[in-house]
Amino acid sequence: MSTDKPTLVNRDAKVVIRPWTGSNEPVPIVSASGCTVTDEDGRTFLDFTSGYFVNQAGHCHPNIVEAATAQLKAVTQVSGRHTTPPVVDLAERLTEAAPDPISRIFFTTGGSESNENAVKMARQTSGKTDILCIDNAYHGLTGGVLGGCSAPKYRATSGLPDDEVVRRFFRIPAPYCYRCPKQNDCATQCLDGVEATVEARPETAALLAEPVQAVGGIVPPEAWWTRLDGIRKKHRLLLVLDEIQTGLGRTGTMFAAEHYGLEPDILTVGKGISGGVGALAGVMASDAIASEYYGGTTPTSAGNAVSAAAGAALFDTIVSEGLLANCSAMGRYFTEAVEALDDPWVGDVRFKGLLGGVELVSDRESREVLPGELVGQVKETLFGEGMLLTVSGPHKNVLRLQPPLSITSKQLDSFVDALKRTLEITRSTAG
Ligand SMILES: Cc1ncc(COP(=O)(O)O)c(C=O)c1O
Repeated sequence: MSTDKPTLVNRDAKVVIRPWTGSNEPVPIVSASGCTVTDEDGRTFLDFTSGYFVNQAGHCHPNIVEAATAQLKAVTQVSGRHTTPPVVDLAERLTEAAPDPISRIFFTTGGSESNENAVKMARQTSGKTDILCIDNAYHGLTGGVLGGCSAPKYRATSGLPDDEVVRRFFRIPAPYCYRCPKQNDCATQCLDGVEATVEARPETAALLAEPVQAVGGIVPPEAWWTRLDGIRKKHRLLLVLDEIQTGLGRTGTMFAAEHYGLEPDILTVGKGISGGVGALAGVMASDAIASEYYGGTTPTSAGNAVSAAAGAALFDTIVSEGLLANCSAMGRYFTEAVEALDDPWVGDVRFKGLLGGVELVSDRESREVLPGELVGQVKETLFGEGMLLTVSGPHKNVLRLQPPLSITSKQLDSFVDALKRTLEITRSTAG
């Protein structure tokens, strides 16, 4: 009988349900600091996942640790009927930073739940039922928003016939300019049929969209948002912005709505708003919509005071450490450094701040998608080089590179060097 102590990964595999894992996952992370995480064997990785796009100021930032620790000793969880100082502190910061006319927040325990509430709000306010979404969108996997998710594999998780899942949702093309059949710059022809599509659905309550799409880092041109926003206003659709991933600085502004001058009626937040401490998210709305809202999802654990204290500390740290400016500067630096490799497999490098990544192709001229097997090898080799990342995108060929907003140019250089070696090795072994 073996006397070897089982590893954390072996123990995890026996008791934890983990629907989405790939090779080298899960990594048994035992400590983390700044932009790095360390595993059970003492190996350190540069974290391009930011704890799934949560730790904007880096892992275990001292300001956040201090705020959360102090709050743990004061009060942790109260009923949703009551309040605590950090909940109000965080709500004030978020509503102050949010685009007009957003002025109130309903706290939830996660992004999917926030979008559930957003859809309820939009329906209650408009008295209508249908929701217009964008191809390639991800809004969470709970029942009420699953229909808004573009990928069939996600919708299939419901176990229901797809037409039932999508019944109240419909979609229009994504502004995926790199693969725009018109190769335009940007005449927004992809929106040509949208008015007719909307007119055919008079029961439409709202447009639910991310300002910048997180899956594959699809960054809409300004002209696209201007035209789509005009259409939705003309047809009196509410604007529900999903800023769960773009919010709290990820694109170089506190909210990505700022880049496009959007004025959402409802806005959802999640991920970073708890500073990485516990599950906290929210749906924000104008006074008019918030004051009429009833029911919600009455989440027992929402508005946890420790999470809120950590979130407020994160918010303040983003401001005091100039992380928005660093995010924009590092996004530009990263783009230029990867483009300068001039590698034949690098098809497109796109970042809005530090949301985005590198789209891999087997041929830059034809833009043929790099086969999944090779993308997987690139990811694994980078993992061996100490780079923690995921792959995403409509064709699953985008290296998703979203480090904490505090990343330095030196750290990005080390990734770019690793990427150069990795692409060369993978290409040579692929023959
Ligand atoms: C844009 C967007 N919306 C919604 C969600 C769902 O959030 P959660 O995983 O907290 O339920 C995510 C999560 O990745 C997201 O990126």
